[in-house]
Amino acid sequence: MPTETIAWTDGHVRLIDQTLLPTETRFLDLTTVEEIWEAIKMLRVRGAPAIGVAAALGVVTGVKDSPAQRWEDFERDLSKTSDYLASSRPTAVNLFWALDRMRRVAESVRDQSVEAIKRRLLDEALEMIEEDNRVCLAMGEHGASLIEDGQGILTHCNTGGLATAKYGTALNAVFTAHRQGKRVHVYADETRPLLQGARLTAWECLQEGVPCTLICDSMAAVVMRERKVDLALVGSDRIAANGDAANKIGTYMVAVLAKEHGIPFYIVAPLSTVDMSLPSGDRIPIEERGKEEIIQGFGRQTGPSDIEVYNPAFDVTPNHLISGIVTERGIARPPYTESLRAMFE
Ligand code: MRU
Repeated sequence: MPTETIAWTDGHVRLIDQTLLPTETRFLDLTTVEEIWEAIKMLRVRGAPAIGVAAALGVVTGVKDSPAQRWEDFERDLSKTSDYLASSRPTAVNLFWALDRMRRVAESVRDQSVEAIKRRLLDEALEMIEEDNRVCLAMGEHGASLIEDGQGILTHCNTGGLATAKYGTALNAVFTAHRQGKRVHVYADETRPLLQGARLTAWECLQEGVPCTLICDSMAAVVMRERKVDLALVGSDRIAANGDAANKIGTYMVAVLAKEHGIPFYIVAPLSTVDMSLPSGDRIPIEERGKEEIIQGFGRQTGPSDIEVYNPAFDVTPNHLISGIVTERGIARPPYTESLRAMFE
């Protein structure tokens, strides 16, 4: 049974510090919104759906001690908390989706006492966790239907339980197929520079007992050419209305390689990751992170300090490279402008 990545326990947030995996499984107890902001920023909690849940619980934490007695005053504290959390990471739309949902819920009960509004916000955040679990299980079933017995599956970054409240997206599809008795073999890209594939995906496969081979990102072409992999399954942080999908840096490269080798390339992501307000992926904000992640990877000097570094944390895979988008409501196929819209209807 997967562990809960993030939970509300005894009036505060409890989450696994993912920066310490795979060598240490440590849970952090976070009692302030500043600690939650830091945990999102530093990738202690990461993966689009998990970031969404962290943001919702961050709102609860940020307003729980608000002294406001009237909606007008409470609303000011709510906005401040929400704007602060929104500044943590820009790409995963789930963060903004969760903040927006929390605001709308508060507004829907604005006539009630501030204590009642606070209770309603907590209930909504807890419901988001339950919903994330249901949605991941549904995506797991749809995704598993794409996997045949004996297949090798290439993954990029981490899309397991750690990236969500509990179950995961793309990696959960592989785990679901494995539980159905299909023989599967994961080829996990290590995922430079922060090694989510090596530290987290490889660790989760071992926990689940799913055969896994860890490769450097630069080996993806070779395992495709050698027909070690039959399918590429990745997650997404934001999908535009036309199906262009942002995901961890290097995903675009995997999609191009998959096309060249005739290997199906699927995105597995909940509808909360689809941003219908963006017509294409051109306007997806891409997070740029610090140069130390490249030149001092995990503490060791791996490049000259004075070198200029470019470190975009995500890239956008154009829709024509995507075979399908697996959501909790089924698999969207091209043309995505129509199929994704239909998913929301
Ligand atoms: O920077 P991260 O580790 O938060 O990036 C995570 C990813 O790119 C995942 O692939 C994505 O969030 C989908 S996870 C279900």
